[in-house]
Amino acid sequence: MANVTVIGAQWGDEGKGKVVDWLASRADLVVRFQGGHNAGHTLVVGDQTYKLSLLPSGLVRGKMGIIGNGVVIDPEALLSEIDRVIGQGLKVSPETLRIAENAILILPLHGAIDRAREAARGEGKIGTTGRGIGPAYEDKVARRAIRVCDLAEPETLSFKLDELLLHHNTLLRGLGAPTFEKQALLDQLLALAPRILPYVEPVWERLDEARRAGKRILFEGAQAVMLDVDHGTYPFVTSSNTVAATAASGSGIGPSATGFVLGIAKAYCTRVGSGPFPSELFDDVGKLLGERGREFGTVTGRPRRCGWFDAAMVRQAVKVGGIQGIVMTKIDVLDGIPELKVCVGYRINGKKYTYLPAAMRAQAAAEPIYETFAGWSSSTKGARSYAELPAEAVKYIRRVEELIEAPVTLLSTGPERDDTIMMRDPFEG
Ligand code: IMP
Repeated sequence: MANVTVIGAQWGDEGKGKVVDWLASRADLVVRFQGGHNAGHTLVVGDQTYKLSLLPSGLVRGKMGIIGNGVVIDPEALLSEIDRVIGQGLKVSPETLRIAENAILILPLHGAIDRAREAARGEGKIGTTGRGIGPAYEDKVARRAIRVCDLAEPETLSFKLDELLLHHNTLLRGLGAPTFEKQALLDQLLALAPRILPYVEPVWERLDEARRAGKRILFEGAQAVMLDVDHGTYPFVTSSNTVAATAASGSGIGPSATGFVLGIAKAYCTRVGSGPFPSELFDDVGKLLGERGREFGTVTGRPRRCGWFDAAMVRQAVKVGGIQGIVMTKIDVLDGIPELKVCVGYRINGKKYTYLPAAMRAQAAAEPIYETFAGWSSSTKGARSYAELPAEAVKYIRRVEELIEAPVTLLSTGPERDDTIMMRDPFEG
């Protein structure tokens, strides 16, 4: 039985939460492998809405959740999320949640640096979530980060805090922001340690055992390929690799074990934060997509920028992200729009491109080349088979498949878990 890796194929917020929840009900373990509490996954189950940032979505289905080494963990945020979902009736305990001992911690100083730097950037800001994600990953590669396992070693914590504060307080002072005091941080971490440590283990051992026992593992990506630190619209990206290959390195399992790669894409496009968005709409259609699609950030509440589906970009995400099948979400948001457009390439300084080149000024100058489609007047909402879809909607999906060079494996037609049309079972590989 194959495993499945789910990643975003656009700029995030594609509706991964619902898809992961649907797949989690058929998996044994669900693993987060990158990102942190910048992610926001909304899961609607019956009359309950769960908003998860750090916890693997499988917990909602009573499945074992694993936070891999590639995730950056804010321990305060993690504990308050655990308390919140327990308050909603979920069971979260060391029997259902395991955390990699070598995952990196986000400290309050990371958020402070993130926000101070964004303020200093002014107009050129990235539009980060301000949650310290970038600074925490920077500390990881600079080899000075505090890891989850350090919570068990007060001497290591004390020693590492000296190095961290030397670096970060110097920077904070330079940015005119308040600095941090070592003793307060140490006391805070030591106070949190007894609540975090029971969840901690070498998760690679558990994953290896699960793999050998033929259990189904679902790898749950956060953000999306166009926010990947290598392959995205750099520098307007997040600080982790969001492509499917990270499921292996971010959880401690070989690349052959991460299974079938599902990319999630909305039937249109959205983006939060700054950065290029060639098919962005500034007219009434853009407004309509935002209102109908309820396009507000789960984490920050910011309104999302909206635009037409960008097939050139998703094709690129398919190639660099290793995507084998697409889950198209929110097709119902397009219902009743008389004419639809899909971006099939770009014109940049008079030259045609089938992909988005890497250079920053070229990306900013990219103008979309569109293909136009007739819309459909009847509703696709809640459809449970292709036969229930209007002919124009099927035509739209078929053309998108051709353009992105990947099949639409699943179609999501509404927020409820069962509003899904499955063309192919991803767990069957
Ligand atoms: P950071 O991840 O907080 O550093 O933010 C970097 C960029 O990624 C910003 O444009 C954010 O808006 C974007 N971003 C981070 N997480 C998400 C997400 O879960 N969905 C959509 N955009 C995100």
